[in-house]
Amino acid sequence: MRTQVAIIGAGPAGLLLSHLLAQGGVESVVLETRSEEYVAARIRAGILEHSSVELLESAGLGDRIRAEGDHHRGIYLQWPGERHHLDFMDLAGRSVWVYGQTEVQKDLIKARAAQGQEIHYEVQDVALHDLEDRPFVTFTDKFGQSQRIDAEAIAGCDGSFGPSRNAVPAAEKYEKIYPYSWLGILADVAPSTDELIYAWHPDGFALHSMRSATVSRLYLQVPNGTDPQSWSDDRIWDELATRLGHGQNGWKLTPGPITDKSVLPMRSYVQTPMRHGSLFLAGDAAHIVPPTGAKGLNLAIADVALLSRALVAQIRERSSALIDSYSEDAQRRVWRCTHFSWWMTTMLHTSGDPFDAQLQLSQLKWVANSEAGATGLAENYAGLPIGY
Ligand code: FAD
Ligand code: DHB
Repeated sequence: MRTQVAIIGAGPAGLLLSHLLAQGGVESVVLETRSEEYVAARIRAGILEHSSVELLESAGLGDRIRAEGDHHRGIYLQWPGERHHLDFMDLAGRSVWVYGQTEVQKDLIKARAAQGQEIHYEVQDVALHDLEDRPFVTFTDKFGQSQRIDAEAIAGCDGSFGPSRNAVPAAEKYEKIYPYSWLGILADVAPSTDELIYAWHPDGFALHSMRSATVSRLYLQVPNGTDPQSWSDDRIWDELATRLGHGQNGWKLTPGPITDKSVLPMRSYVQTPMRHGSLFLAGDAAHIVPPTGAKGLNLAIADVALLSRALVAQIRERSSALIDSYSEDAQRRVWRCTHFSWWMTTMLHTSGDPFDAQLQLSQLKWVANSEAGATGLAENYAGLPIGY
């Protein structure tokens, strides 16, 4: 078969790219190893930046975000004995929305059905060929048939385990592994807070997030290699209550039935360039951030905003300026978010070193009490403009 852009991966990066290309009059075919049901149900990110919401709205994908998402003006930052609210609207004039990645994924799948872009789920053996001349992708479809797609460009949107990132020869790779992980839970209980709580605690970091008025999402810092099943539900709620400050100034954490439990290791990874010949990387295929600060999904959306414009200009108008600067343009924001995620992570997770703990507390107090400090966090958290 032949198409204009072959897209590898049907996560948010791949599906949004396909959607934006279709709106720009460019045809694409998406390949995905997993089933449609698996991809739609995967529990991941929950926070959309201001500019991500603007982009989704301008692409006609904003109705459910506005109707069902939860607009948050800011976050709470806390350590034992103190909780501070940072109001991003006041500080930076921008805000965030609580709207699950699963919902973004559902909106994209629905829009795809309406627009009719082709997508092949449950494929295997995806391989990229001839990237510097006449690019094509080979794969085995779900019926066991060998297939080939010839395209003008290939978009590697296949996350951190897909084949695309390794198809860029001699790429520079930057990586940092953190000595802790997150134990994340989803619980059928109303959130005990109106906005997210990021809590520093001597026993480790804790985060109270949410998905809706009846579903809470919470995280605990745990050692690497932790088996989620080794934490009973009671132990999880007890630890969350301690670290989030149950009883502090009358605040209460309400526990509820846990419906999902998983452990998430943390790392930073950046690969550059994000292009080789006709292959372009976007999202987790090119970079991973630790989750503190909620940047991964937003970075994927920002990459795709740049890449879709560049591919439309290249394919429709034979104008190559945007595609030639894509990697450099995307990397400016990638490194800003990589720094921000590292900074939030290292400020909030305890290492056991008492000197580090004092530095973290000093930093947190400065961020919470200085307008300059708070504005820096707000500007980065609520997100920089897409073209930053
Ligand atoms: P992915 O979502 O990984 O999609 C890649 C797709 O490619 C997958 O569907 C995969 O199956 C497919 N694929 C892989 N190999 C192949 C192949 N060989 N052929 C074809 N397809 C293939 N980010 C935030 O912004 N905010 C948050 O609050 C947040 N919280 C998170 C919480 C958790 C628990 C996790 C795990 C992540 C979180 N993230 C968060 C990160 C965010 O989920 C990712 O950054 C985002 O999913 C990246 O999208 P993507 O499309 O680039 O990659
Ligand atoms: C969520 C995840 C994050 O990494 C974060 O910083 C905030 C919220 C979440 O899953 O809701």
